[in-house]
Amino acid sequence: MLKNAQHAVAFTGAGISLESGIPTFRGENGLWSKYDPKFLELDYFYRNPQEAWRLNIEVFYQHLARTKPNPAHRILAGLEKKGLIKAVITQNIDNLHQQAGSNNVIEFHGSSNRLFCIECNQQVEFKWEYLDSLPPTCQNCQGILKPGYIFFGEPIPEPARTLAFQAAETADLFLVIGTTGEVQPASFLPVIASRNGALIIEINPAKSNYYLDITDIYLPGGATHFMTKIEAGLAGQ
Ligand code: APR
Repeated sequence: MLKNAQHAVAFTGAGISLESGIPTFRGENGLWSKYDPKFLELDYFYRNPQEAWRLNIEVFYQHLARTKPNPAHRILAGLEKKGLIKAVITQNIDNLHQQAGSNNVIEFHGSSNRLFCIECNQQVEFKWEYLDSLPPTCQNCQGILKPGYIFFGEPIPEPARTLAFQAAETADLFLVIGTTGEVQPASFLPVIASRNGALIIEINPAKSNYYLDITDIYLPGGATHFMTKIEAGLAGQ
């Protein structure tokens, strides 16, 4: 099916990065069972930038320091090089698709790899030394720097939003990997792809919101397990 697709797109969630050591949000040991999502609300950040940054480091940045792409990320990058998938739309902020070699990555929720100044909006690439004193400040105007991923209450960044919906509308195969389909508007993307006639293939050890009426082919297991099988299948082994 991947070989015959003209415009296959991958759509990934936290599940693809679990095998890199980054916890998922929901399910057992999920982040939301340990942390109150309020620290990811925009007004909490504005009111308590130092504490919000401390929690963002504890929840996200501390993992990102140690993680690297796993085989599922790398195989997706290989499929892009072979022209078998055209883009990866990710809800993840861990930059692992890019580190694995994927080029056309649409970061629907932004990325931890960038920081924005909340005063002058200058964007800088994340460096660990920015976290030597919290909150990090802008070298341009001394304003407070915010992580480049969206907080609850923030809009989906452009051009990612437009590119993601365009990709979902034009895809003829949508490979959904490691997402519960719980969070809008990201969760609409497989629905739009399906309504536009795309074949929906889903990799997830548990049944997601898509399982009943969106997913055409459900592969019940982990990302690395099934991406390795797909890679072997494409190599004709
Ligand atoms: N391989 C693939 N999928 C897996 C694996 C694995 N090895 N292990 C778990 N999963 C699946 C779980 O079954 C679950 O369906 O990964 C999914 C993780 O779901 P969530 O934690 O809800 O992550 P996600 O769907 O990406 O969350 C969407 O929620 O809080 C917001 O902004 C945050 O981007 C995030 C959004």
